[in-house]
Order: sequence, then structure tokens, then C-alpha cells
Amino acid sequence: MLDRDRIVPQLKNGRHEWGLILGDYADSTNLKVKEMAEHGAAEGVTIIVDRQTAGRGRLGRSFHSPEGGLYLSTLLRPADPDPGQITCCAAVAAARAIESLCDANIDIKWVNDLYLNGRKVAGILAEGVFAPDGTLTAVVLGIGINVGEMTFPADLQPIATSLGNEGFALTREDLAAAFLNELTAVLADPTAMAEYRRRNLVLGRQVTVMRGGETYPATAEAITAEGYLLVRDEQGNTRELSSGEVSVRL
Ligand code: BTN
Repeated sequence: MLDRDRIVPQLKNGRHEWGLILGDYADSTNLKVKEMAEHGAAEGVTIIVDRQTAGRGRLGRSFHSPEGGLYLSTLLRPADPDPGQITCCAAVAAARAIESLCDANIDIKWVNDLYLNGRKVAGILAEGVFAPDGTLTAVVLGIGINVGEMTFPADLQPIATSLGNEGFALTREDLAAAFLNELTAVLADPTAMAEYRRRNLVLGRQVTVMRGGETYPATAEAITAEGYLLVRDEQGNTRELSSGEVSVRL
């Protein structure tokens, strides 16, 4: 389990009072924070575990979550919750946090993946919390970062890596604190979307769009202020993607 005394002294609380809950494992830290949110938990409650038994990824996928990773979910209650924008802010915050602790260069792949040396090193999942009347009241922001030396199943080996596997040594405690501090800064930083675009691997590239059962080639042209991806398809039409996924040859 992470050492609380090596996280808490590093936290600059800023807008949030981070209420840290550390554990050995959870099914999914996002699910746990969501349950707490539905029972009225305050902004900033944060769960971090050593491994997850049912880690959740985007688009209903699972997220490989063995020991060696940082699995963190935090509750945000902004006045106007927007899971898409929070995803973009979290990507920038995580990239800054990693780079503040080691010499790695972190790229972002729209919309929620962090890449290191051409492979995925972290994923982000922001999920809405809804009141009984359907109003979006809060966002659970979850991030999984492959930190230590890790082995991946055969299907992930060509596409996933960890900071440790790429030769970078950092502690999960330092990374957790740096991420939460950067998150506070990025959420209040009007230049964050510019940095999100600058770090993005897809802009100007040929991509394959996969959305709702449809797959088509396109060129990724821009990312809007809301974090939507604008692509031009082969018929010359501009399409706005608020969800879905693109693949790009790296
Ligand atoms: C993705 O790559 O599709 C998103 C992965 C998000 C994983 C994190 S790990 C902490 C939090 N708990 C989860 O179950 N998922 C997120």
C-alpha cells in the first residue's frame, strides 16, 4: 500500500482538500468513488490502490491493473461538470506530473491516452455522477499509470509500456502527489487546451476513426475548446467526434 506520509506533505491543497483513502486493492477505484459520490462525498475524496481486480477503461473495456501501477480516482464537483474537458485537463496534468519527476517525454493520444516512446503508458476515464432526476452533479476522474517495471499480457505487449520498463524510476507516492497538484493547476489554467493540442499525437495525421460500429479513414485536423476531435473524411466532409476512438500509425 502507498505510504500516506510520503504523499500528504507534498500536497498543495489549492481549491481541493484531497481526502486520501489508500488500499491494497479494489475492483475499480472509479466504482468506489462513484458509490461515495452518490452518498454525498465531498469534492476531493481520492482512492488509490496497488491493483484493481476489475479496472474499467473507456468504451466498456477493461483496464489491465496489476501491481506496479498507480490506480487513482478522485471526485470533482465543478459548477458545470464536463467529463470531456476534465479528461483533457487530466491528460495534461498527468503529462506534466510525470515530466516533473523524470526525463520522459509524454504525448497524448486523443482523447484519453498518454504515450511514451510510441506506447500507451496511462489511461484516463472520467465518468459522470447523476442525481435521481438525471442532472449531472459530479465527475469521477480515474487514471491508471504504469509506473514500475511491469509485464503485460501478449496482446498488450506491442502497444503498452511502463515508466519503469522505459528506464525511468519514480515512486507512486511522488507521482500521486504531483498529479493531484498539477490537476488543481490545470483545471484553473486557460492555456491547458493549447497544451493538450500541442502534446497530441493525432493532429495533422492520417487516422482510422472507430465510432459506434462505423470505421473510416480520415485526417485529424483540430481539437475544439470542448475537446472534440474534428476529422476530414475521404469525401472531404468535416466530422466532429465527441466520443469514439481513433487509431494512428506511430
Ligand atoms: C482507458 O485506457 O480506457 C482508461 C483507463 C482508466 C483506468 C483508471 S485506473 C483508476 C480508475 N479506475 C478504473 O476502474 N479505471 C480508472
